[in-house]
Amino acid sequence: MPEHVLEAHGVSVAFGGVKAVDEVSVAVGEGQVVGVIGPNGSGKTTLLNALTGVVPAHGVLMVDRRRVRLGAPERPRRAGLVRMFQQPQPYRALTCQENVLVATPDRRARGLTGAWLLRPRMLRVERARWASASAALDRVGLAAKAQVSAAFLTYGEQRLLDIARGIAAGPRVLMLDEPSAGLNDQETHALLVLLRSVAADGVALLVIDHKIDFIDALCDRITVLETGRVVAEGTPAQVWKDRRVMDAYLGTAQDA
Ligand SMILES: Nc1ncnc2c1ncn2[C@@H]1O[C@H](COP(=O)(O)OP(=O)(O)OP(=O)(O)O)[C@@H](O)[C@H]1O
Ligand SMILES: [Mg+2]
Repeated sequence: MPEHVLEAHGVSVAFGGVKAVDEVSVAVGEGQVVGVIGPNGSGKTTLLNALTGVVPAHGVLMVDRRRVRLGAPERPRRAGLVRMFQQPQPYRALTCQENVLVATPDRRARGLTGAWLLRPRMLRVERARWASASAALDRVGLAAKAQVSAAFLTYGEQRLLDIARGIAAGPRVLMLDEPSAGLNDQETHALLVLLRSVAADGVALLVIDHKIDFIDALCDRITVLETGRVVAEGTPAQVWKDRRVMDAYLGTAQDA
């Protein structure tokens, strides 16, 4: 069992009187892929919103054994949590390269004197940023489109660009909200291979998705949500055998 990079305990989010996420605990180890599945409205996206500090939430979040306060986005981000949204969100007016560059940490010196004195180092830092953006684009198979405006990408390519941005940000934990949505079988398979390779680099992955085959092949463990609660957790084989999962989820998945 790898050491946990992310550990969340008893996370809850309430909208009005309704608990959209109810005492959810989830843990992801280094290089591990954990899936979060459940019917529409079961609280999957809200769980990611809670862990990334964009909605008020209760509970305990630990990243690399350090407590990270919930309820503010800077802290999870600084702790290395990077999140991809349900809809790809590229800057359409920027090239792919620029889209990835803006996701990489900016460590330029501030002020005129600082900038002048540190000029050689700054140039090195900027070159390294550029190289890491190029490497991330290459990694997702978009190297040839580096100078193309993001507005000209297909939907699948926009998703890949989003993932390149995530990789370039140098995350400890990468969270993806339905990354296979809108992708054909071939693209979904390529995504699977890509995400496994990101995990192999030691990144902890938390992946929401509705495609059962994709989740089954991708994940080391799966957490199943229903109306905000964890109804099952385990390896894919364990989870698929669970009666509550059949009742709560598989009917919905087959309909979809
Ligand atoms: N900002 C909000 N204000 C009020 N209610 C919300 C808000 N965001 C989500 N909810 C509600 O919380 C519940 C969980 O929604 P959530 O989007 O997390 O579900 P989901 O599992 O991601 O669903 P899907 O599979 O459709 O993406 C739903 O009942 C939803 O209507
Ligand atoms: Mg959702």
